[in-house]
Amino acid sequence: MSSYYHQTQNFLQNYYNLSDQDIDVLLSKMPTTDVYQYIGHKAEILNTSFDPARSNRLQQKNYDNSYWQQSYDIIKAEHWPACNSIEDFYSLPLEIQQECKQVHKFSPDIWFDNNLTFESFTKSADWTYDILDLIKVNHLIFDNIDNITGKKVIDFCTHAGAISGLCLHHAASHVTFTEIRDPFLQLANKRMELMGFAPEQYASCLTDIHDYQTNTELCLGKDTVILSGVIYHVHDHYSILESIIQAQPKSVIIETCHYRPIADTAEPLIYWMCEETEKNTCNAYYKDYPVAMVGFPNLSWFNFTMNFFGYQESKRVSYDSWMPNEDILLKRTPSITRSVQVFTK
Ligand SMILES: C[S@@+](CC[C@H](N)C(=O)[O-])C[C@H]1O[C@@H](n2cnc3c(N)ncnc32)[C@H](O)[C@@H]1O
Repeated sequence: MSSYYHQTQNFLQNYYNLSDQDIDVLLSKMPTTDVYQYIGHKAEILNTSFDPARSNRLQQKNYDNSYWQQSYDIIKAEHWPACNSIEDFYSLPLEIQQECKQVHKFSPDIWFDNNLTFESFTKSADWTYDILDLIKVNHLIFDNIDNITGKKVIDFCTHAGAISGLCLHHAASHVTFTEIRDPFLQLANKRMELMGFAPEQYASCLTDIHDYQTNTELCLGKDTVILSGVIYHVHDHYSILESIIQAQPKSVIIETCHYRPIADTAEPLIYWMCEETEKNTCNAYYKDYPVAMVGFPNLSWFNFTMNFFGYQESKRVSYDSWMPNEDILLKRTPSITRSVQVFTK
């Protein structure tokens, strides 16, 4: 097993208090990592090429070199030098570079090829899931499986479809997913195809979450609405929830983050900030606005608003969103906490 795998295990044990057995159970509920890796890789390429300020994609800082390194380590012959970063590749002896390209289809050019197929993608056997993804889907999906299995689900702002794929993996009867960034919607469609789901099991829709009428139409006849990782990228939380509630879904699951100082206050509050819309493909989308005002409502705000719409909080879990690198190295408590709240009629 790679050091990355051990790092993940340690992290889940130490920061999220999961036992070995809990981790095994959690991993057993996840689909195999190959599609997750491939789609994650393609999403990362799109993310990298998305930022116009980054002229040289290979030098971008945020790329996770451990992923590259693990893939190289699989094909590496014993006598080959280490290649710990994408830049290291060009220092390898030429014949090794050539073998990497010709035999293993592995090089920075191939790595950053937008058209890289699933079949020629270099998968890593001992690669594991992103820690925060695991913790998040545990609270969001596995702990709410009654709202997923056998249910008609809509997953707003899906990015590359990870949450929707998991809902289908856990036998949702149908999943609709939405997204405003078309390349990501296409990736989400590709994910469903590669995971082996039939076209009639899911529907995708390119739409803006600020289009309230479409939200209502899409939610009609749905059992479960998922708003995951998106409600802190908008300014109009009330109107979005109102548009969803008009369709009277049985449950609404909100996964979001909160600004720690006001996360738990009894008063319904929103923390406001500005967000660059083009900095990251996960960020807010506001056409023609390079910077948008976005708000982080606290737990009470969601309660207050959903009660107003006639829904009750049936489940709540809050957790720290520890990230392995930043917060631990800086020995700081994250300023953000995360939660999952479930509201039912
Ligand atoms: C942080 S990602 C969350 C992805 C996914 N829901 C999850 O929980 O893993 C936020 C997503 O919301 C999308 N998004 C942001 N603003 C949007 C808008 N106005 N309409 C639709 N999607 C939007 C982004 O493109 C991005 O894919």
